[in-house]
Amino acid sequence: MVLNLKDYVASYPNFPEPGILFRDISPLLENGPAYHQATNEIVDYAKKLNVDVVVGPEARGFIVGCPVAYDLDIGFAPARKKGKLPGKTVKATYGLEYGQSALYLHADAIKPGQRVLVTDDLLATGGTIAATIKLVEDLGGIVVGTAFLVELMDLKGRDKIKGYDVFSLMKY
Ligand code: PRP
Ligand code: ADE
Repeated sequence: MVLNLKDYVASYPNFPEPGILFRDISPLLENGPAYHQATNEIVDYAKKLNVDVVVGPEARGFIVGCPVAYDLDIGFAPARKKGKLPGKTVKATYGLEYGQSALYLHADAIKPGQRVLVTDDLLATGGTIAATIKLVEDLGGIVVGTAFLVELMDLKGRDKIKGYDVFSLMKY
């Protein structure tokens, strides 16, 4: 049976700030078949791209990327927020739908020429994914695809990553 994954996304108006309609993937994560289906769809996408390593931004990018990497039997490199990675890092700053932030990747996380899939739960303005792509490319990685559970079409995140392949399971 194929599930309608939108049945597993909750919507919260005015969270975390007035004017933001928050699309919450918690129900999907809490449902085994829905989480499995979503993961499998991204794994099928990744299989066509010959991916060497998956990279995902803290925190929700881990939830999407780790099971994909596990299924593909490849590694996962976490792009983390300030003060979390102990080794030498590269840094990228970015703006969010709500706020400003920075992401870091261990400098040895990606080897030059490696083919990278970048994953996250949601594409909004595209700031987070653009910063994650920059980190990968600073280390010489090749971003062969990006994958999301949810894409917020109004915010035109794709425009920020023109030229990169974007795969999203649910569009709002
Ligand atoms: C959320 C979400 C994406 C990002 C999308 O993360 O998980 O990473 O925002 O927005 P953008 O396309 O406008 O950049 P958030 O920064 O809230 O952090 P979290 O994953 O730790 O909750
Ligand atoms: N991250 C950025 N914008 C978001 C939204 N509207 N819902 C859930 N996560 C988000």
